[in-house]
This record gives sequence, structure tokens and C-alpha cells, in this order.
Amino acid sequence: MTEVVHTPRVFSGIQPSGGLTLGNYLGAIKRFVDMQESGIETLYCMVDLHAITVWQDPADLRHNTRELAAGYIAAGLDPAKSILFNQSQVSAHAELGWLFSCIARMGWMKRMTQFKDKAGKNAENASLGLFGYPALMAADILIYHSTHVPVGEDQKQHLELTRDVAAKFNHDFGVDFFPMTEPVIEGAATRVMSLRDGSKKMSKSDPSDASRINMTDDADTIAKKIRKAKTDPDALPSEAEGLKDRPEARNLVNIFAALNDQTVDATLADVGGKQFSEFKPMLVDLAVNKLSPISTEMARLMNDPAEIDRILGDGSARARKIANPILEKTYDIVGMIRS
Ligand code: TYM
Repeated sequence: MTEVVHTPRVFSGIQPSGGLTLGNYLGAIKRFVDMQESGIETLYCMVDLHAITVWQDPADLRHNTRELAAGYIAAGLDPAKSILFNQSQVSAHAELGWLFSCIARMGWMKRMTQFKDKAGKNAENASLGLFGYPALMAADILIYHSTHVPVGEDQKQHLELTRDVAAKFNHDFGVDFFPMTEPVIEGAATRVMSLRDGSKKMSKSDPSDASRINMTDDADTIAKKIRKAKTDPDALPSEAEGLKDRPEARNLVNIFAALNDQTVDATLADVGGKQFSEFKPMLVDLAVNKLSPISTEMARLMNDPAEIDRILGDGSARARKIANPILEKTYDIVGMIRS
């Protein structure tokens, strides 16, 4: 069998299931912008089909999909450089998702920690879609023969499963068709933690709004949340090693470093020795400077929903042009008649 070399292509997605958090921005969107600027072909999706694996009010879903698109663009994604679209407008995702549901194994899905977290104690009552979610995610990625996927750390297990699906498909059908996608989990903030509890991930579903910074928060709210963020009584260390058993301190330093486009070591070289009473105001200034322009631009874009819909329609048409030939070839490999 000849080894197929896949041209580099970046894909990633975010669920339009509620407001965007600082975790989404630092762990994902900011990285998306970096990859867009690297000159590789980039596709960024609002994964609306994934969002409905748990209940979404239809009006909220529509609003959240547009707001997510506004967040992508306000943060620096350019519809002329990246393909920005919503998943349900490219039906190849759902079609390949079905084929992959027949490749992936029940045992693989049962091991997924995101399913266990989201389904909670009442797993019997979770939707079938939530259980099979990673098969659709593998389809999102592989329908474009994507080679690189920038994500936060919590998506690592899903990306390993994507590689397992690609490998099993290639093996079962004796082809070298789907690439082994590389996760790109990089930067100082691959896992932004709750501002109230350094052992919990910052999440849009946390019942406490004080636990997270939302991308729509105004300057006063951002300042208040950072001032109230949990810390410890010690001064900041001068080296990363000194943050080892200090989850809250580490989180705030990681956030500072990521917002400032610095490494943690470079940040600590500047702020090591400072008390939180001095460091927190610095973090407030930095966060407000970096985030306020994004929330202002998001609000401006949301005043023209028709323009957002036009951008998503255009992006979807471009995405279909890449996805459909790959879907056709997949059906052919599987043995489906396409006349
Ligand atoms: P979602 O919608 O939960 O999150 C979107 C992206 O934000 C990252 N993220 C974080 N990064 C750092 N710290 C945090 N606290 C934090 N919270 C969220 C996530 O890692 C993710 O990169 N299954 C995916 C959506 C998806 C997808 C895909 C992603 C569907 N298909 C294909 C990549 C490729 C999810 O639920 O992300």
C-alpha cells in the first residue's frame, strides 16, 4: 500500500451551547487565530449538532450560534482567511458520523470522561447522541482529512479516539485514506481553572458566574471577578516549580502569561516576589485591555445578525466543496452504490 501524504489542514470547533468563557478563548480561539496566521488552510466550526446532545432551547441555540461566530470574528478570525461555518449546514458531518458510529466500539465510548462528567449519575437518561458524540467529532475532523486540531487539554481523549477511528477504518477496509490527526495542545493556558476552585476547570456550565470570566463581561465585572478570585497567602515564586502545589496561584499566572503572549517562566521573571495585592491589579489591567475590545466588537457584530448568517452560509458552501468529495470516496470504499 502506498503511503498517502496529506497536505496540512487545520480544523477545530466549539459548541454553541452558552456563553464563551476565558477558557474557550485562551485554550482554543486564540490558538485558532495563531494557526490562521501561520498560512495553513484553517476551518473553524460552530458545532450545533453536538450542542443538541443536551437540551437547547431553539431560540437560544440560534442566538448562541451567532454569538459564537461573533466571538470568533471579534477575536481575530477572518472569514476571508479561515472557513467559518456551522456544522449542520454541511450534512457530510452527520453522514460520516453515522459511518463512524459503525466503526467505533461501545467500549471506546464508555471510557470517555466527558460523557461520564456530562451524563452524571443518571447515565441511563442521557441522550444516545451524547454517548455517540465522539464518533461525530471524529467525523468533523476527518471529513476534511484534517492534519492538526488545536484544542484545550480536556479534548485530548476525544482526539485519541479520532485517531483510533481513522486507524480502524483504514485497517478494516485495507486503505490508507484517513490521516492520523495531530492534537495541538499548546500555550500557557491549555487548562484554565475556575476562579473559585483551582481544582475545577473553568466552564460555562458552572452554576457560579464568579467562577469564570465570560467573553461578554464588561470591564467592571472582569475586575470584580479577578479581585475576588481565590488565592493563597504567599508571594508569587520566581520559577514555575514554585507553583506546583498552588493551583489557584498557578491558574492566575497561566492566565496572565497567555493573555500577555508570554511563557510562564518569562511572566514569573517579572512578577516573582509580588504579593497578590499587587499582582491582581496588574492582571485586571491586562485582562480588561485584551478582552474589552473583543466584547465591544462582539456586541457590534451582533447588531447585524443577517451579516453573520451570510458569513456562515458562505463558509458552509466552501466547507462542502472540501467535504463532499471525501464523503463520496468514503461511501465508495465502504461499498455503497452512488448512481
Ligand atoms: P467545547 O465547546 O467544550 O470547548 C471548545 C474549546 O475550548 C476549550 N476549552 C478550554 N481550554 C482551556 N481551559 C478551559 N477551561 C477550557 N474550556 C474549554 C476546549 O478544549 C475546546 O478546544 N468536543 C468539543 C467540540 C468539538 C470539536 C470537534 C473540537 C466538536 N467537534 C472537532 C475540535 C474538533 C467541545 O465540547 O468543546
